[in-house]
Amino acid sequence: MPKVQTGAIIGLMSAITISIRPESECDHLRPFNAMRDLRAVVELVELCFYGGTDKGGRRSRSMHGMDRAGRFLRWSPPILQAMSFPHLGYVWEEDGRIVGNVSLVPFRRRGERVYLIANVAVHPDYRRRGIARALMTRALRHARRRKANSIWLHVRTENATAIRLYRDLGFVPRAERTTWEASATPALGGYRGAFRLVHNAKRWWGRQRHWLKIAYPPELAWYYRFPNWHALRPDLWGGLYRLVMGYHVQRWVAVQAGQPLGVLARVSWGERVDVLWAALAPKADPSALTALLIQARSHAPPRHILWLDYPTGEADSAIRAAGFNPQRTLLWMRAEGTSATSGATK
Ligand SMILES: CC(C)(COP(=O)(O)OP(=O)(O)OC[C@H]1O[C@@H](n2cnc3c(N)ncnc32)[C@H](O)[C@@H]1OP(=O)(O)O)[C@@H](O)C(=O)NCCC(=O)NCCS
Repeated sequence: MPKVQTGAIIGLMSAITISIRPESECDHLRPFNAMRDLRAVVELVELCFYGGTDKGGRRSRSMHGMDRAGRFLRWSPPILQAMSFPHLGYVWEEDGRIVGNVSLVPFRRRGERVYLIANVAVHPDYRRRGIARALMTRALRHARRRKANSIWLHVRTENATAIRLYRDLGFVPRAERTTWEASATPALGGYRGAFRLVHNAKRWWGRQRHWLKIAYPPELAWYYRFPNWHALRPDLWGGLYRLVMGYHVQRWVAVQAGQPLGVLARVSWGERVDVLWAALAPKADPSALTALLIQARSHAPPRHILWLDYPTGEADSAIRAAGFNPQRTLLWMRAEGTSATSGATK
């Protein structure tokens, strides 16, 4: 049990950090202490992921949302914010400085305890010495001792080094997803082509929901704030919910020969970034998605940026054809929780 301490934020942070038993078997590996280590860890992660500071001494990019993917954080669920402002994890300290880090983000979903592993980073001068493996092994042991049902992480598909390490530790690929971006282009004036785009297709809501569940599988739904079915539903209840929550949702269904083939919802809430949720009917012509995306671009307010997260490979050309550019492709990997064998916790 964490020791309860008084004293506002300092007390809270201490309570979080001392909840991990100090390590005795290793001189270098110890629990992350938010009060003491946060700055060093942020700098290490920036160095390892973004190359650190530029010649002028400014941070070239930041964990806190200055990079392109960081815009995501403004509308991101608490899970992503926790990833960027880690409270829990382990560091590797050597030569009087922190040269390795792993963050842990615990949360619950439908009664299941899930841990996300993030910010795995080792200083370039200290690589290939087993530091990442030791940190990861400790993080896995931490999650399993706390009865995690599953442990997840995501990694860019081009990061063969890290993927090799994660596979070695028992992580198995579960999904590959690409984040796409495009700017609003009201000048397009809307989609004109082979599909009819229906604005308010209440009668197909059941099907739309089914397709969206395939495109955004429940296995990963803990990571996303959406699909938030209350916000998307096309009835009065959905309208009230959007009003109260301040969401603005535009939705279209692509129809051909009387059959609905795809759905897209553009969700905004007063920021310049709008999030798109899109899905195709099984075996539908992917150009239905192109039509929907062109429609979304032309109906978004000027200077808005549109984000789409979609399963990689399934409709890449159709998404490109609507003027979207890939920002990153992430491989989602999962390791077993408490039921895992001791092999992964060596
Ligand atoms: C990925 C990273 C954390 C590895 O750190 P590390 O301390 O050098 O890794 P380790 O020494 O513990 O190596 C563990 C395993 O990773 C793999 N690996 C590490 N570096 C590798 C390389 N240059 N080439 C191939 N495989 C490599 C190997 O499987 C290795 O096991 P082995 O040494 O028994 O063959 C480090 O390179 C890093 O910080 N990279 C930049 C940030 C990053 O990509 N983080 C992961 C994002 S999800």
